[in-house]
Amino acid sequence: MVKLNHHYSKLAGGYLFPEMERRVAAFRTKHPDAPIVDLGIGDVKEPLCPSIISALEKASRELGSPETFKGYGPAQGYPFLREAIAKGDYGSLGISPDEIFISDGAKNDIGNFQEIFAVENRVAIPDPTYPVYIDTNVMAGRTRLPLKTGGYGGIIYLPCTEENNFLPQLPNRPCDLIYLCSPSNPTGTAMTRETLQMWVRYAKENEAVILFDGAYEAYVRSPHAVRSIYEIPGAKEVAVEFRSFSKTAGFTGLRCSYCVVPHSLKIVESYQSFSLHALWKRRQETKFGGVAYPIQRAAAAIYSEQGKKEVKAFIDDILDRAKRLRDGLSALGYRVFGGTDAPYLWVKTPGKMSSWEFFDQLLEQHYLVSVPGSGFGTEGEGYVRFSAFSEASKMTEALNRLEMVAQ
Ligand code: MLT
Repeated sequence: MVKLNHHYSKLAGGYLFPEMERRVAAFRTKHPDAPIVDLGIGDVKEPLCPSIISALEKASRELGSPETFKGYGPAQGYPFLREAIAKGDYGSLGISPDEIFISDGAKNDIGNFQEIFAVENRVAIPDPTYPVYIDTNVMAGRTRLPLKTGGYGGIIYLPCTEENNFLPQLPNRPCDLIYLCSPSNPTGTAMTRETLQMWVRYAKENEAVILFDGAYEAYVRSPHAVRSIYEIPGAKEVAVEFRSFSKTAGFTGLRCSYCVVPHSLKIVESYQSFSLHALWKRRQETKFGGVAYPIQRAAAAIYSEQGKKEVKAFIDDILDRAKRLRDGLSALGYRVFGGTDAPYLWVKTPGKMSSWEFFDQLLEQHYLVSVPGSGFGTEGEGYVRFSAFSEASKMTEALNRLEMVAQ
């Protein structure tokens, strides 16, 4: 008789974003005319840049001609894109195109990467965090049941609170697999060089591996913050880095991302050395069919001179909106974090309101969609996350609605 993977039954509730969307949809059904302003999920709202569109068009036409038609592409991604990334994103850091794997989403890569590690590994994850890190480890059987106090037994949570500037600190128990995200989803905080150095040192000393999620690196503006973990000496021996074109260039619908698995990242077990690069390559060649050629061409277009300008303007715009929202909310008396190196603002709920209570109030009284902080972990309770991806006029509208109530 067929048996299920009952680790799936341990998952508490629905995945955060669909759950939130369900609540918003129910509200829309009851109030079809409510002019909702969506500051919830971090999805881009603007059309793609002209360079991306013309690369997509050109590459699609190539597929319609016998001389330039292409069938299956390389599972690791086309060399033209891997070369553009190595040069454009890692110029002086010495990452070779062969260490780069193209994929259809950082969420997928981060979710899938854990499967090349044993279930016995002790996993450390920031709290609050992007829910994919936790849920995929639950599915894999690396946790025990959900705890009454929140979270799952067996996970080593790294509290990121106002007191530690939302920066994950070393745990007081040993861990093997460490998830770090900078700039952080959800707190919008970018990790400092000192913090990352501490983690790289820890990973070396404890033979641990860091899975570094850099999906929002393009938003980093603070001079003290790092954009890539490979800026830290020694990181190539302990870290895998994940990046995405979703938030960098509006590819949430197109789907394209990449991860870097350095050749020097080796796991030694019973005097035998295993290359994570080789294992991941093997996994991708078996389970992944590659990203469509026109989409890889579209991604490569953002490394052209014109593409770089367009993408920078796109990100600068979102950061301007984040600043407008941050300044406005602060002026209204909210405690606001993030929003300077990230498209996300982490906002303390007023009084003793819970995240979901404030989420409901924002939706029902102000027609504003946020994300309840508790959906990102126990330490997220008492916060909501706003995203700055909606048009600038929507930021002003949101602030006007909140201001009317504050008066
Ligand atoms: C978010 O809102 O946190 C992101 O859009 C989710 C994602 O990228 O999967």
